[in-house]
Amino acid sequence: MVLCLPKPKTMFTAKPSPLGAFVLVLILCIMGFYSVNHPHSFSPSLTSHNASYFRDIFLSSSSNSTIASYLRDLTVHPHLAGTKLGSDTARYVLNHFRDLGLQTDTVNYKALLSYPLHSSISAHFSDGSCSEFPLGEMVRSNHVDQDVVSPYHAYSPSGSAYAKAVFVNYGRDEDYRALEKLGVNVSGCIVIARKGGGLPRGAVVEKAEAYGAVAVLIYVDGDGFGKGFERGNVMRGIGDPLTPGWAGVDGGESLDLEDSEVLKRFPKIPSMPLSAEIGETILHSLVGTEVPQEWKSSLGSNVRLTHVGPGPTLLNFTYQGEKKVRTIENVFAVIKGSEEPDRFVLLGNHRDAWTYGAVDPSSGTAALLDIARRFSLLLHIGWSPRRTVILCSWDAEEFGMIGSTEWVEQNLVNLGSKAVAYLNVDCAVQGSGFFAGATPQLDDLILEVTEKVRDPDAEGATLNENWAADDGNSNILRLSGLDSDFAPFVQHAGVPSIDLYYGKDFPVYHTAFDSYNWMTQYGDPLFQRHVAVAGVWGLLALHLADDPILPFHYHSYVDQLQAYRNGLSNILDQSTSLQPLTTAIQDFASAVKEFDDESNALRLQEAADCFVHSKKRALNDRLMLTEKGFLDPDGLRERNWFKHLVFGPPSDRESKMDFFPGVADSIAWSARSSEKEAQAAIQHEIWKVARAIRRAASALRGELM
Ligand SMILES: *[C@@H]1O[C@H](CO)[C@@H](O)[C@H](O)[C@H]1NC(C)=O
Ligand SMILES: *[C@@H]1O[C@H](CO)[C@@H](O)[C@H](O)[C@H]1NC(C)=O
Ligand SMILES: *[C@@H]1O[C@H](CO)[C@@H](O)[C@H](O)[C@H]1NC(C)=O
Repeated sequence: MVLCLPKPKTMFTAKPSPLGAFVLVLILCIMGFYSVNHPHSFSPSLTSHNASYFRDIFLSSSSNSTIASYLRDLTVHPHLAGTKLGSDTARYVLNHFRDLGLQTDTVNYKALLSYPLHSSISAHFSDGSCSEFPLGEMVRSNHVDQDVVSPYHAYSPSGSAYAKAVFVNYGRDEDYRALEKLGVNVSGCIVIARKGGGLPRGAVVEKAEAYGAVAVLIYVDGDGFGKGFERGNVMRGIGDPLTPGWAGVDGGESLDLEDSEVLKRFPKIPSMPLSAEIGETILHSLVGTEVPQEWKSSLGSNVRLTHVGPGPTLLNFTYQGEKKVRTIENVFAVIKGSEEPDRFVLLGNHRDAWTYGAVDPSSGTAALLDIARRFSLLLHIGWSPRRTVILCSWDAEEFGMIGSTEWVEQNLVNLGSKAVAYLNVDCAVQGSGFFAGATPQLDDLILEVTEKVRDPDAEGATLNENWAADDGNSNILRLSGLDSDFAPFVQHAGVPSIDLYYGKDFPVYHTAFDSYNWMTQYGDPLFQRHVAVAGVWGLLALHLADDPILPFHYHSYVDQLQAYRNGLSNILDQSTSLQPLTTAIQDFASAVKEFDDESNALRLQEAADCFVHSKKRALNDRLMLTEKGFLDPDGLRERNWFKHLVFGPPSDRESKMDFFPGVADSIAWSARSSEKEAQAAIQHEIWKVARAIRRAASALRGELM
């Protein structure tokens, strides 16, 4: 079909109102422009002048009903990675991108995944009675959906245990110490832990194993439904365990399953999720030692839980699973940049889910698909981004960020030198309250963009008004966690990144109740929070793709480093000198000041001539390279995949220190060595961070010493 559009030049000179833009969009929709196969037939030189026009159109073309329909389609079936139904969603996303006329790509890997075969749990109570517990949720008409994977912990070893049950609270070291004080030894027992002490699932299993438990059962208390089983993986580290540090391409090197590098990633004792209902039934039957005083306040109303055991209840637990190499599929849509095609702005979300995954992650996938729809619309009315925009749909995130990690490992050099930023959304909406995490140079951009997006939960307010009001500054979180696909980008490749979501701790997390129905009843009945996340996500991408000078502002990095330095001075005693850190941060602060003066002058100049253009590009390169300064090519001690010295998880998952992971490790390990050695190790790590900060300063200055 041939389309007559108004001549771009005349169309873009007048500043259109959002209403005008909306009408235009409506007209274009009615004209059926989706069938046009050549979206790039407009003059690229228009883009930089009209970037704000395209942002307005992007905002006014939001639609809760399209997002809702994508979510419904994505959640008809469960879509676990490595399964036929999982693969069907890859096709769905790919077809959506194609139908919009976008260039697409699929990149597959072979990865070691893990599935359950058979499991059972029964209890033998002291009164002689016995019960076999049903494992799995009754979602529809009182039967377990055969397509929903039965409850399990991916990468748990197969095994069985017949032993006394003992309650260990959250399964933290302090919990085991409280038990030891009361003379409770969990060795040889089946440990029952509740989720919530801040420990990742795998760390709960790891600690139980260290204390001699023979198996671990984890339930979620306070779960509104009481009947959900929280699936999840219990692997250490991230990425395919058979290809640690490199990509699992077909025909490439792959370690043997028995290789010690592979085995060290898995726990040695079996584990399983329990529903709150089953967990509490078992716990209420325990006698033996009374619940430690210090746990009581957090147990709240659960007054029937009075004793921790061990026993007399005996549990008979069997788990049989299999680890299988399966194909995983990352799907991409690529919008080539017109002026700087070799600079990439990446928007990513994982697609695989434990069950129906309405919240996790399909709310994010639905938002990504709607951004694709709106970007395609912009292309049809003449948008041609300055830089290349890539929409990424990752597979096998639930097994340990495998799809994204393999891709980052495969593309490390190109991403390291050409990726402008990675914008992640996992669970777009799990409830109320907006959250954003970022590497600090992106703070200002997030604040700016949230001023443009309507707050779905406060009539007449912008998102920024309620979210950023608290301390006048912002509540932006940092990306030291290992809980979504930003981890390989930040912690391995040093790509400036953002993570966005609504709400936290939703009760149906990783259970079969995470369905479209739950979303329409509780999570986001009108899909307006989805619209808000998609709005922020897309606007961030448009700025990063189109702003002639990248919207990076390193003064927030200086403030953040300063705050971390102060945090460290509260933890460490006088014997460690923070002077290297202090002066490195001062040096970085003055580099930021010099850069701002230089770039402010240049920001005002139109990019008309080549000279200004190449000067701006040189400034942008410095802005991009600065983040790389924080990487150490050798990586962290004993886990060198982690390269970032400012952001990364501490080895000891109970450590409260969620910054300077190398320093955090040296502090945690100080108990292992003599005082003198410990102090030297901590001081060495502080020097390493100081050198990293100076590398960043030097990258921002862009000159040789
Ligand atoms: C717990 O019991 C095991 C096995 O009986 C024993 O090896 C271990 O030392 C005990 N731990 C403590 C802290 O007493
Ligand atoms: C434990 O359960 C398994 C599997 O259901 C069964 O074969 C075994 O006999 C049980 N063991 C005991 C001691 O009840
Ligand atoms: C979209 O939002 C409007 C206005 O809030 C609401 O009336 C409508 O029901 C929503 N649509 C969906 C699919 O939730």
